[in-house]
Amino acid sequence: MDDVMIRPMELRDLDQVEEIEKKSFTTTWSKNLYKRELIENDFAHYFVIEKQNKMIGFCGIWLVLDEAQVTNIAIDPNYRDKGYGTLLFQYMLKRAMIKGAANLSLEVRKSNTQAQGLYKKFGLQPAGIRKNYYTDNNEDAIVMWVKL
Ligand SMILES: CC(C)(COP(=O)(O)OP(=O)(O)OC[C@H]1O[C@@H](n2cnc3c(N)ncnc32)[C@H](O)[C@@H]1OP(=O)(O)O)[C@@H](O)C(=O)NCCC(=O)NCCS
Repeated sequence: MDDVMIRPMELRDLDQVEEIEKKSFTTTWSKNLYKRELIENDFAHYFVIEKQNKMIGFCGIWLVLDEAQVTNIAIDPNYRDKGYGTLLFQYMLKRAMIKGAANLSLEVRKSNTQAQGLYKKFGLQPAGIRKNYYTDNNEDAIVMWVKL
């Protein structure tokens, strides 16, 4: 993993973010929304993971007082199942702790057992269900939570 780097997301990254976003989610965030997150949202922190200077994934978190909420995490499909998601999530969790977060939560599709597997590795537990949360297919969201 010597050739891997995690750094804050910048505006110049947004074309690649959009590409990975499209390959990863059924309902996607637009480039403009990411741009607003980077420029206007003081609570938002976004990171990209690069391998040999090529972006292979990204993630985002909102830090509000002592609450951390993961907004999204995605790894390029060609690079999944190789531990990069774990590296990125671990990095984000550490950043949240350094900034004073006392707990971290997120929503995940009930069917997304892959992502749930990642979150469980870091001690996140199901804390509730948001019924019909995802409007594209009315899927429930599982709220997962961990005390940091
Ligand atoms: C979720 C995601 C970021 C994981 O990234 P990744 O680089 O593949 O993750 P890792 O290789 O570090 O694997 C992390 C854990 O995920 C789980 N996992 C990975 N691939 C899996 C698979 N095919 N089936 C079930 N669980 C799987 C395992 O628990 C794994 O831990 P382990 O290898 O120690 O057993 C990636 O699958 C992704 O981008 N998915 C699409 C976007 C998405 O769903 N994001 C989450 C929205 S809430």
